Amino acid sequence: MPTDLIDTADEILEALRDGQRVEDRVFDRLLPMPLRKASYQYWTSVRVATRVGAWLRDGGARRVLDVGSGPGKLCVVGAITARIEFVGLEHRAHLVEAARHLATTFGVQHRVKFIQGDLEAFPDHDAFDALYLYNPFGENLFLPNDHLDDTVEISRARFHREIRRLETILMTLRPGTQVVTHNGFGGRFPGSYTLERSERAGVNPLRLWRQGERPSPDDQYWDEGAEALRDGDITEPY
Ligand SMILES: C[S@@+](CC[C@H](N)C(=O)[O-])C[C@H]1O[C@@H](n2cnc3c(N)ncnc32)[C@H](O)[C@@H]1O
Repeated sequence: MPTDLIDTADEILEALRDGQRVEDRVFDRLLPMPLRKASYQYWTSVRVATRVGAWLRDGGARRVLDVGSGPGKLCVVGAITARIEFVGLEHRAHLVEAARHLATTFGVQHRVKFIQGDLEAFPDHDAFDALYLYNPFGENLFLPNDHLDDTVEISRARFHREIRRLETILMTLRPGTQVVTHNGFGGRFPGSYTLERSERAGVNPLRLWRQGERPSPDDQYWDEGAEALRDGDITEPY
């Protein structure tokens, strides 16, 4: 079907399965109105979600955990196109509800689950073999007008708290675990990770990391913000 005629959920599903392009403005019509407006700033595009699903599937992933899954766009598009499982962790209850609804709309609820909570509810490491991080805590640094809503704590202190917790989690993930960052996650990768892919998704860096066999010495990190990591350069950790 020509791209500009794709409209209903069934047509979107068929197009995604066939590898056809689906415009975000078409996909986003299936989200509740206030969430459509936030899409450009907050939700992964259909094109990038498809790419991430393919990277992780090709790298051997079977179940991906999206930390801060919003209304489930990455999880649902990834489950349809890559045909692997996704788990979304999201602290806003109304986004979890929207995400479950989206998964049901596309009939992929058997492959996509959502957990409501923050990093306290981070699942057991055996429950996934890949992570997706679309700058999940960045909102804590935005000006109030750019916040999604005020249903959760948003603060600079929270940003630093969550980054510290996530850096600790990253250190302890099982060898072979893949992690995709989209515009970074605000923190640093332990030196035990290897950068396997790096490219631009629009203006944002999209990177695939993999946890190695050995835990990293405490003083070795990859800094995602470092100039040396831009535009596909792969360098030694410092
Ligand atoms: C930039 S959006 C990304 C949404 C989704 N991963 C995507 O790519 O479309 C970040 C999401 O993380 C959620 N979030 C932020 N901090 C969180 C935390 N500490 N625990 C769980 N979810 C969080 C926000 O509510 C928001 O939905």
